[in-house]
Amino acid sequence: MTKTFTIRRPDDWHLHLRDGDMLCAVLPHSASHFGRAIIMPNLVPPVVTAKDAAAYRDRILAAMPEGADFNPLMTLYLTENTDPADVAAAHADGLIHAVKLYPAGATTNSASGVANFDRVGAVLEKMAEIGLPLCTHGEVTDPEIDIFDREAVFIDRVLDPIRRSHPALRVVMEHITTQQAADYVRAAPENLAATITTHHLVINRNHILAGGIKPHYYCLPVAKRENHRLALRAAATSGDPRFFLGTDSAPHTDANKLLPCGCAGCFTAPNTLSILAEVFEQDGALDQLEAFTSLNGPAFYGLPANEAKMTLTRSPPSFPSHVDTPEGPVTVFDPAMPLHWTVT
Ligand code: DOR
Ligand code: ZN
Repeated sequence: MTKTFTIRRPDDWHLHLRDGDMLCAVLPHSASHFGRAIIMPNLVPPVVTAKDAAAYRDRILAAMPEGADFNPLMTLYLTENTDPADVAAAHADGLIHAVKLYPAGATTNSASGVANFDRVGAVLEKMAEIGLPLCTHGEVTDPEIDIFDREAVFIDRVLDPIRRSHPALRVVMEHITTQQAADYVRAAPENLAATITTHHLVINRNHILAGGIKPHYYCLPVAKRENHRLALRAAATSGDPRFFLGTDSAPHTDANKLLPCGCAGCFTAPNTLSILAEVFEQDGALDQLEAFTSLNGPAFYGLPANEAKMTLTRSPPSFPSHVDTPEGPVTVFDPAMPLHWTVT
């Protein structure tokens, strides 16, 4: 007998769509499953001003497949020169839904990010006043700090001081990877939330490093030990409204992933829903999937949940191993386990 279940159409609260040919190649994979997505601004050059965000939104809409039901929610890339008035105007126009903090040098295209956090105080104060969320890439860049500790140290050195200085600021800790981050969210007031990626629910650091180096599992923040993966699974499947899906689907061509200094990112847009259904079923929590993918995120961002529905059927899905783009193939994330749920 076929088993099916239906949830409200999901949203992706952290997505990289890139630009140009890559945008056209990857957008259909998100637009087919998600109602909305928070669009990351780390283009080259980054999306810094309201004008940049409006132009990028137009390019996304122009690349949209025929008949798609997908709304890109734009963000601005925070720099030390960001103008609070420009941010406030873009928010008042309904153009932007968050501002993204990249510590300078933390990850892909973060060179224009923030080095001195004191220099963004006026923008953060304005955001707190108007209720505009700050999305954080939560890793310190101090070369003295071990890469596996950079998220936990960011909480103590950067995030906690920011939240103490701006207690009303709404903050989303993006793509959390540690028990410490999950605990920090649970202990905080309701203006703090976290996104969790699909891949961090599936892989730990052994997947990247044991038995040969696997560049397609390398992303930032890097996957941690197994106990952290289990902590993320517990948070995601708990139904706690402060945890919701942000895939961080981050396409790079295979050529760029397989370099001696390869790019960080896992491309999960095509198979995210099948993987999440598998994960939630394994943990006996299929009844919490809708909260994680479709309810908790809109509630935090002050938006209604999608009216449209999505049905998943218990039949083995099939996915291509890669998506062809004019820039070269992009490998689809391999969950390294059989999948049993298909979006129908
Ligand atoms: O793995 C990642 N890829 N982490 C990030 O923070 C950036 C992203 C990208 O843009 O490729
Ligand atoms: Zn990202």
